[in-house]
Amino acid sequence: MNPRTPKSAPAMASPTRPDNYVLVVFGATGDLAKRKLLPGLFRLAAGGLLPKQYRIIGSAPRQFSLSDSDFKKHAKDAVEEFGGITPTPEAWQNFEAALSFASADPDDTAPLLAAVDLAEKEIGSKPRRLFHLAVPPAAFRSMVELLGASKLNVGSRIIIEKPFGTDLASAVALNKTVHSVFDESQVFRIDHFLGKESVDNILALRFANQLFEPVWNRDHISHVQIDVPETLSIEGRANFYDATGAFRDMVVTHLFQVLGVIAMEPPSKLTAEALRNEEVKVFDALVSINPKHVVRGQYEGYLQEDGVAPNSTTETMVAVEAKIDNWRWSGVPFYLRSGKSLGANRQVVTLGFRQPCLKMFAIDRESKGSGSGGEIVIDFGDPGSITSNFLAKEPGPVMRLGRASMVFEYQNSFNAANELEGYEHLILEAMLGDQSLFTRADGIERLWEVSAPLIENPPPVEPYARGTWGPDSINRLIAPHAWHLPET
Ligand code: BG6
Repeated sequence: MNPRTPKSAPAMASPTRPDNYVLVVFGATGDLAKRKLLPGLFRLAAGGLLPKQYRIIGSAPRQFSLSDSDFKKHAKDAVEEFGGITPTPEAWQNFEAALSFASADPDDTAPLLAAVDLAEKEIGSKPRRLFHLAVPPAAFRSMVELLGASKLNVGSRIIIEKPFGTDLASAVALNKTVHSVFDESQVFRIDHFLGKESVDNILALRFANQLFEPVWNRDHISHVQIDVPETLSIEGRANFYDATGAFRDMVVTHLFQVLGVIAMEPPSKLTAEALRNEEVKVFDALVSINPKHVVRGQYEGYLQEDGVAPNSTTETMVAVEAKIDNWRWSGVPFYLRSGKSLGANRQVVTLGFRQPCLKMFAIDRESKGSGSGGEIVIDFGDPGSITSNFLAKEPGPVMRLGRASMVFEYQNSFNAANELEGYEHLILEAMLGDQSLFTRADGIERLWEVSAPLIENPPPVEPYARGTWGPDSINRLIAPHAWHLPET
């Protein structure tokens, strides 16, 4: 995870506050709960965005069980360490009064049932229930079945973490299990990239302005890059990562979702149904990934990491050329790259524009971006920015072109105190029952379907030095274009 700047609680009250809730976090002693969920829930509470009455029950299998007071301490430590916020005594007291802990195992659901029952009685008049499955993917199935067997599914909502399956067959099987217990309208498959302010802002940029949409197509755009390099390595996650790799960890989930937002047609209205229909249409039009147009890299020293198989061929970085076979994007390659131990921590979409058809000016063909027709660069790492790079006349007697840019920066334009982190935003949306920013069963299955040729026939991994941008072949993959990152 990226280090985050210290934050205050979001200042703006939500236009609609969720109904009263009992929220159960499965995996409450795990990494995700510590880094994101507990700090996020506290910030939502402190910002007045949680329901008037709520209870948060931390849950885990009995061998990780905590007492209520230990869970409260665990939550406070998590908020202080990862929320970048020191709670005021009053805010903390209010929040911790809502916390309790109950173990849950398929063969023993009694503690959880008792805790939910107590929380509901304390709130009174039938609060809603939300279950957050912040557990390893291998446990999704048994947790869903546990909820079905104990009837806790009835009328409840469920947030399911990524990765949703490891291939098409497992995603189909998991959807089948989920649908045997929950209706799709109760299911919120979370991808925290979709909760990022600056990813949502792509919808605003494209569809709230007349300026961009007319050029957002194959006639004007030569290629698109979705680039999410990370400097961190696998950081003790070998167990998960060595079985997963960069493609499953980042591309099938986060990067394809961003691609959906960049590439979708304008939805007829801003509803979950209309938005998700358009997103799934993009996935339908994706061409199956050709393994010949993929680079898989492994950072030097990966095989020596604790818990990594000595002969592992898992990729720690991947670069993929994706194609969308539809009227808008035919012939426009989308280059997706992500990986660990790379040269910088960035989250960037770059739209490269075609050169003007009349070449009046001498253009430096070596220079990328604006030198070849301009680019729009959307930095969707918090707090985010949008830059339009273009060519301008340099002052002086001769007509010489220089690179120039127009920049929108979130932090200088709006009240950053209102910003919600991806998880905070999505937990709130799930409580409100709005599925717009959550992935749908058919969309997920389609992404695994187009990924099948690569999963079945991956090219060999190539080594790269830590702190670089991957093996040299990433440049051949994108030629004749060039990676926007690193910025020169
Ligand atoms: C997670 C991946 O889903 O996203 C991690 O499992 C990755 O490997 C993380 O580091 C990146 O998200 P963020 O928002 O922390 O940059």
